[in-house]
Amino acid sequence: MNSAESHTHSGSLQAQRWRGDFPILGTKMHGRPLVYLDNAATTQKPLAVIEAENDYYRHYNANVHRGIHALSQQATDAFEAARGKVQRLINAVSPSEIIFSRCTTEAINLVPQRYGRSRFKVGDEIILSHMEHHSNIVPWQILCQQSGARLRIIPINALGELQMEDYFALMNERTRLVAVTHVSNALGTINPVKNIIDYAHANKVPVLIDGAQAIAHVPVDVQALGCDFYAFSGHKLYGPTGVGVLYGKAALLEAMPPYQGGGDMIRSVSFEGTTYNSLPHKFEAGTPNIGGVIGLGVAVDYVTGIGLEVLSRHEQVLTAYATQLLVDITGLRIIGSAHEKTGILSFVMEGVHPHDIGTVLDNHGVAIRTGHHCTMPLMERFGVPGTARASFALYNTRHDADALAAATYKVKEMFG
Ligand SMILES: Cc1ncc(COP(=O)(O)O)c(C=O)c1O
Repeated sequence: MNSAESHTHSGSLQAQRWRGDFPILGTKMHGRPLVYLDNAATTQKPLAVIEAENDYYRHYNANVHRGIHALSQQATDAFEAARGKVQRLINAVSPSEIIFSRCTTEAINLVPQRYGRSRFKVGDEIILSHMEHHSNIVPWQILCQQSGARLRIIPINALGELQMEDYFALMNERTRLVAVTHVSNALGTINPVKNIIDYAHANKVPVLIDGAQAIAHVPVDVQALGCDFYAFSGHKLYGPTGVGVLYGKAALLEAMPPYQGGGDMIRSVSFEGTTYNSLPHKFEAGTPNIGGVIGLGVAVDYVTGIGLEVLSRHEQVLTAYATQLLVDITGLRIIGSAHEKTGILSFVMEGVHPHDIGTVLDNHGVAIRTGHHCTMPLMERFGVPGTARASFALYNTRHDADALAAATYKVKEMFG
């Protein structure tokens, strides 16, 4: 066994242990053991997360920040403790910089509407990249319609990497904001976000990073990055659906008006006017997803217990192994071969529609995603209607990669 093989082997042993934490992975699909490779869409949940939500509803369900009774205090403490865990996960300066939202999409939408709308005007420019998820395109297009600003797009090369010289050239005195993804959901490319942020800041331009595909796969330190906003979803981080996070620098959030009005975001209300609550509550109108936030806190404990570096290395090794298996299949083309990648493997097969690939794989118990992955401009850039996408998480093993390759060979047999 060479050192790469021994690393893969020990990584798979670790992953085998982690698998035991995820009840759903014992499921059979079409009579075969489930091979879950749709982690970029949503990750599975460890028992600890499922039990934490269950425990909240069974033992201390109450509204937060409102009651002086003991249950409400217990729920509030658990809710705010989760905020602290998220703060430490991404190394924000203060828990008040952590705004809970429904998901990445809602977190991103807050920024154009509450940072951009009152500031941007006709002729202003917002820089995005060609590999953005629709969630980091459409909210900016809506802002452009409202303000007269326009989008400028950083192109990508054939490997699926940002063309940084073009980014530098796009920056000018009209640029008002840069919004780019940390990791591409369709290609797996890890973008050089630190360089992007440094260059924008040298031009006094703030930066929003879409961290939906990064948060569970690479260590994130918002202070080291220096980003102004960072958005992600709990459900892609082994946490519950219905909870997401917007990190924002306190000074920027302080200067922004509230997003929605209602309970919890106010200090005082009269018919003559309202004064708003302090951060982060100013942006958290109404009853939040309390059980979801508590579950997210436990998911953060889970991944930090393993260590982002450890799970990232495991996924890298596994992706390299799976890539080797797939590239041997004649007529199969990997879309996205950036030098820096997470565990996302997008591919097309000559003469086979991606949905057919997905259907055959599903019949073999292998769950992948097929289609445009909410990145239609990116698909157009590569001249494909969609791809088949396998995406790895900490609990995937070499066995899963072997099952992916074996089922893909079946596709070849059937359609080739
Ligand atoms: C890069 C990226 N951004 C944003 C989103 C949107 O996430 P959500 O649907 O949780 O809001 C996704 C989801 O796949 C994504 O991959």
